[in-house]
Amino acid sequence: MNEMTVGPPTRRVLLGTTLAVGSVATLAACGGGSKTDPLPSATGTPNDAGPVSALPVGGSASLSVGGHDYLFYRPDEATVLAYTSICTHQGCTVGVTKALFKCPCHGSEYSHSDGSVIQGPAPKPLTRYAAEIKDGKIVLYL
Ligand code: FES
Repeated sequence: MNEMTVGPPTRRVLLGTTLAVGSVATLAACGGGSKTDPLPSATGTPNDAGPVSALPVGGSASLSVGGHDYLFYRPDEATVLAYTSICTHQGCTVGVTKALFKCPCHGSEYSHSDGSVIQGPAPKPLTRYAAEIKDGKIVLYL
């Protein structure tokens, strides 16, 4: 089992959550792109998703946590973003490319930065999860 024991969410997680939610709200208010789910707070159970070395800055990866695949993107040294790998079209497993997340079944494409739909037929963005980098590991809150 990949679970690890971690204390309460750090200020970085909470700040990142606040900024991300604010960005999503701003995007929604502008009416641009597809509406994304708000970034959940890091109040779920922390899970070890592996060493941060598996996710270089600017990179994305599909990592297994608890027997399920999750998609990760690391926009900078201190931030990691996490999403479900379940396509919102018909439930295929979404994969990663250098520039975006892509479903192999019917070609839906999703943004690395917020999970929004870039190209359909997916009707909704990918579900987001709180995540952080802590002690050299990627921590996913489920
Ligand atoms: S199941 Fe992903 S595009 Fe259809």
